[in-house]
Amino acid sequence: MRIGVLTGGGDCPGLNAVIRAVVKTAIHQYGDTVIGFRDGFSGLIKDKTVPLDLPSVSGILPRGGTILGSSNRDNPFRYAERRNGQATQSDVSDTVVETYRKHELDCLIVIGGDGTLEIAHKFTAKGLNVIGIPKTIDNDLSATHVTFGFDTAVNTVMEAIDKIMTTAESHHRVMVVEVMGRDAGWIAISAGMAGGAHIILIPEIPFDMERIAEQIYTRKGRGKHFTVIVVAEGAKAAGGDRIIKRIVEGSSETVRLGGVGDMVARELEELTHLEARCTVLGHIQRGGTPSAFDRILSTRYGATAAVFAHEKKFDHMVALRTPDIAAVPLSEALHQMKRVPPTGGHVETARRVGISFGD
Ligand code: F6P
Repeated sequence: MRIGVLTGGGDCPGLNAVIRAVVKTAIHQYGDTVIGFRDGFSGLIKDKTVPLDLPSVSGILPRGGTILGSSNRDNPFRYAERRNGQATQSDVSDTVVETYRKHELDCLIVIGGDGTLEIAHKFTAKGLNVIGIPKTIDNDLSATHVTFGFDTAVNTVMEAIDKIMTTAESHHRVMVVEVMGRDAGWIAISAGMAGGAHIILIPEIPFDMERIAEQIYTRKGRGKHFTVIVVAEGAKAAGGDRIIKRIVEGSSETVRLGGVGDMVARELEELTHLEARCTVLGHIQRGGTPSAFDRILSTRYGATAAVFAHEKKFDHMVALRTPDIAAVPLSEALHQMKRVPPTGGHVETARRVGISFGD
């Protein structure tokens, strides 16, 4: 077979491990030829390729990022360009089909989040054989038990909380840590629990500043003069809205969140007269070497995708259905967002050990 591979959307740890597993399986097991496309669908629009042979994937297992590059602005069905200083949008999907045919591909393996996989699914109707591999640090796809990249991000946040905890205690401060996750609180609740945060604010449970202040006083009453609060970027006050930081035109999800951590710290200072600081962890959460869990999951996803290509399981996505890797139709997998159930196991356990959700 001739197999194309691209990585699209925001990067995450484990992308290179997936690419390596696809290439190794395709070459060792089947004697295939694998071609990488640079910078997401842009590589197919502009025919930017890189041969993916065994030497090119040697040593990339522990590397963060993606050797192929990524882009979340190159939707071929709504391709945004500036022409004569003017922002334009056009459908260049036929160019993608031409590039696919030019390289005589039998299958295109698309490694991406919801937006990228939706584009992949649309190409099935144009006659392309696509297979999806779900990635996102947000872990917000319900079709798979876990997305790769999530575990590493949680570990990164946990280590940050460990560090914040010591300075919070020294200075008797309220320390707010803002984390990513978009409209899902998985990173916040998982890393918050792992790091021993005292209060966790997630998009699924609207918070109340007075209740948070009460928790801080309760801790003070117990002789604990510091509090660590983990806030998901999509968290919102009851009756309020999420805080939008910027709009990224041309991206499949245009809204970028951010700022809730600063708001919480500021309002808590006013309410409690205690010193508060906010740390926004930002893109640190998307970088670095993948954890052992993510390396294994990425390898299983990549190797299985190559097998699925030979089994002609096109228009499907690989998904972890513990303990197996299953094939899920892309039409079923898309737009099925997985959020933290407010009365589910994570929240219940957190509450049992005294963590407040500010509600
Ligand atoms: O979806 C992954 C993610 O890292 C989100 O957690 C975050 O909101 C967003 O991407 C940030 O996107 P960008 O890299 O475009 O700022």
